[in-house]
Amino acid sequence: MSSSAVAPSSPYPSLLNELPEHARAVEVLVDRAFGPGRFAKSSERLREGNRKLDDCSFVALDEGRVIGSVRLWPVMVGDKPVAFLGPLAVDATARSHGLGQALVEAACAAAARAGWRAVLLVGDAPYFARIGFSAGPAARVTMPGPADQRRVLVKALVEGGDSGLVGPIRVA
Ligand SMILES: CC(C)(COP(=O)(O)OP(=O)(O)OC[C@H]1O[C@@H](n2cnc3c(N)ncnc32)[C@H](O)[C@@H]1OP(=O)(O)O)[C@@H](O)C(=O)NCCC(=O)NCCS
Repeated sequence: MSSSAVAPSSPYPSLLNELPEHARAVEVLVDRAFGPGRFAKSSERLREGNRKLDDCSFVALDEGRVIGSVRLWPVMVGDKPVAFLGPLAVDATARSHGLGQALVEAACAAAARAGWRAVLLVGDAPYFARIGFSAGPAARVTMPGPADQRRVLVKALVEGGDSGLVGPIRVA
């Protein structure tokens, strides 16, 4: 498993690839950010029985404490492999310093290096639009359960990487 530091565009010193030793703290952080209802989300169906992309999943550490997390997962849309992002969470005490954006950018950069064509997620367009995500190219992607289609967003990592994404999204 690789562990690499990336230069964060935030005041925090380190974004690192998530390691097994971070997993428990990530669960606590995500539980706090999303509450107990998080396992009912359609996105969760794409994580169950799946294996996260270790080289594209990051934690933000502040003096060794996990204060931010982003995970990517391999999925298929039709016959096209794409990386599915989520959950993204930042500790309430550390928000609005660019950390969430830095985590998403680190995950997307790692996914591009690893050869993924696009990153897909379910989230708020006003937040993710500034990081290059849009709903248009994901309009014909169907989630495995109820989802507001306007929140299904995609970012191409290569020229045309967000084109031709049609059909159900499923665990690869
Ligand atoms: C969303 C979240 C990860 C952002 O983390 P962050 O480190 O504060 O993000 P950034 O610093 O990059 O951006 C903060 C800005 O985004 C805005 N923002 C945060 N959530 C937003 C949303 N859902 N829609 C629109 N804007 C949002 C903030 O108001 C802030 O604006 P400001 O810069 O004008 O103050 C964090 O608020 C969080 O963990 N929320 C709970 C979990 C969640 O909703 N995750 C995302 C869904 S996939």
